Amino acid sequence: MEQKKLIDEVEALRESFDSTTSQIIKDLRRQEKIMVRSDQRQQREYDELQLQLDEIKRLNKEIEDTQREVLLTVGGIGETRSKETFNHVRRVAEYSKLLALKMGMGIEEANLLKDASPMHDIGKVGIPDSILNKPGKLTEAEFEVMKHHALLGYEMFNKSERPLLKAAAIIAYEHHEKYDGSGYPRGLVGEEIHIYGRITSIADVFDALGSKRCYKEAWSDPEVFSLLREQSGSHFDPKLVDIFFDCNAEFLAIREAYKDE
Ligand SMILES: [Fe+2]
Ligand SMILES: [Fe+2]
Repeated sequence: MEQKKLIDEVEALRESFDSTTSQIIKDLRRQEKIMVRSDQRQQREYDELQLQLDEIKRLNKEIEDTQREVLLTVGGIGETRSKETFNHVRRVAEYSKLLALKMGMGIEEANLLKDASPMHDIGKVGIPDSILNKPGKLTEAEFEVMKHHALLGYEMFNKSERPLLKAAAIIAYEHHEKYDGSGYPRGLVGEEIHIYGRITSIADVFDALGSKRCYKEAWSDPEVFSLLREQSGSHFDPKLVDIFFDCNAEFLAIREAYKDE
């Protein structure tokens, strides 16, 4: 009798164990379904965010590319007004980037300089054609007017908060300063001249001397090189002249890649 009671109790226990277990299994299954659903939802949300992020990145690149293209074109306008070729600003851009990198500047800043340096002569849009395109030497009064292009270029961009346009303002303002203080418009000396100005100056002169202009023939390489050497420390930052000669082949390769038609 005692035995039967025990069996009943054990069976009752097993039933309650079974029902509890199946309840637990049911709960676990439900929980699993919920988790799968929320995983799928999270995955969907993540995918959507990723798509939006890609689109933002694309738009951002588009804005940057547009900015760069506009600057290059506007810089080209400044140069064509004085009958220089569009490739002149491209070459100056590449030389400037190369000098910046060799000076130890980071790639981002070197690219900023590359994009801003084509604007160095943008102020020439405000200089009369009679002076810009005059064959032969300018009179002193005409040269005073010509010098004004540096300040004009600066004033076009200096109110902007954009790093690229700020850099363009500095370059326009300081690309005719000379290391010994004999340049214009402010007669800054040595490292008072912003590194962007010092770099664009040598890039611009190297290219201008080797090209034909309305007031002069193109110089030969030995003539250009001896002027750069001679002007190291007076017109140009000597560190940059050294870099120019250390990496001469790279400069000539740029000139070849962007040569005038
Ligand atoms: Fe200039
Ligand atoms: Fe130039």
